[in-house]
Amino acid sequence: MLNFELYNPTNLVFGKGQIEKLSTLVPQGAKILLAYGGGSIFKNGVHEQVINNLKDFTIVEFGGIEPNPHFETLMKAVDVIKQQNIDFILAVGGGSVIDGVKFISAAVHFEGNPMEILQKRLLIKDLSKVIPFGTVLTLPATGSEMNSGSVVTIKATQEKLAFGGSALFPKFSICDPTVIQSLPKRQLQNGVVDAYTHVLEQYLTYPHEGFLQDRIAESILQTLIQVGPEVVENPADYALASNFMWSCTMALNGLIQKGVPSDWATHMIGHELTALYGIDHARTLAVVGPNLYRVMFETKKGKLAQYGKRIFNLTGTEDEIANEAITKTVAFFHTMGMDTKLSDYTKEYDKTADFIVDRFKERGWLGLGEKQNITLEKVKAIVEMSY
Ligand code: NZQ
Ligand code: ZN
Repeated sequence: MLNFELYNPTNLVFGKGQIEKLSTLVPQGAKILLAYGGGSIFKNGVHEQVINNLKDFTIVEFGGIEPNPHFETLMKAVDVIKQQNIDFILAVGGGSVIDGVKFISAAVHFEGNPMEILQKRLLIKDLSKVIPFGTVLTLPATGSEMNSGSVVTIKATQEKLAFGGSALFPKFSICDPTVIQSLPKRQLQNGVVDAYTHVLEQYLTYPHEGFLQDRIAESILQTLIQVGPEVVENPADYALASNFMWSCTMALNGLIQKGVPSDWATHMIGHELTALYGIDHARTLAVVGPNLYRVMFETKKGKLAQYGKRIFNLTGTEDEIANEAITKTVAFFHTMGMDTKLSDYTKEYDKTADFIVDRFKERGWLGLGEKQNITLEKVKAIVEMSY
């Protein structure tokens, strides 16, 4: 097993009715920026619950953080914080609102142009230079509620860029599984596939000595396979909703990647598809992931075979099991309502591979994946196979 440090200071407050604890979680006397998205929190009563439980606090509201949050929008919130001397941010929403708040938190005291945080993928480590924040999660998917990563889009340049750092863990996150009842089917499907792919990014690498990490990863995959299709049909079922929400958090709160290699190339390529065509994040992963496993078959077949045996009970030779495991993964994505070809989402896809390769070249991303052997040639092959 590789050496590791496990640091995760987020106080995760999980379960029905936990929004009631808000007033004890926010620092006393704080002036709060309540950040939210396009308004779903007004329709499902979450806004009301939040306000009712923060009666003694001064709250300034900032709405309109869009899915795949824009740098341009977030900078408006930075101005509000500076003008109104706000000292705590509460993100109420899905991954986009939480990621947006992470950026806002880092940008307020940043010396220089905050766009550099994104373009230079700066590591934000100094707690004295960020605005502390908490979250009320409304969409299980990203794990952003319990990690220190964020993805922000610069609209002007159509770039979707990830950054993060140890100063950007939420102080607390309230995860109440009953809030998912108002989610559209499409977003529930997205959540399952995003979390599933997070596990695969940290699991489908090469055989290693992280036996426990593998077993934890496999149990998250199995739970998502068990509850995913059902929770989409019945999000009011608490057993389904709570296991779905907890699986999503566990998939990307850092635990399963400790001491083991990880890949993340599916996400890096997927972000480009969202930046170019506005495709939902999870759906880009369903398009790219299986083709990445096909192109990188020789590197990944040991782990693909383990996945095939343990998750889908497959038998046969290593190559047969590994191949069939990819087919089963695509079938699961279809069950979860995903289209798995780029041409299902856009008709103007023919230059996509060259565009992405050029971008990666400019950024110096010449070798991705757990072995840095996903070269630009391989990226091209993966994207072309995804058409
Ligand atoms: O904006 P509102 O009106 O709130 O509506 C949202 C949005 O339209 C809606 N929604 C959220 N909760 C709801 C609800 N509608 C009804 N009832 C509720 N309870 O759902 C829509 C999508 O929300 P969004 O936050 O965009 O979805 P998600 O949580 O999937 O987040 C996606 C973003 O997270 C990034 C993605 O790249 C993407 O930008 N990721 C962040 C990661 C991280 N920080 O670790 C990792 C991921 O791999 C991912 O890259
Ligand atoms: Zn993701």
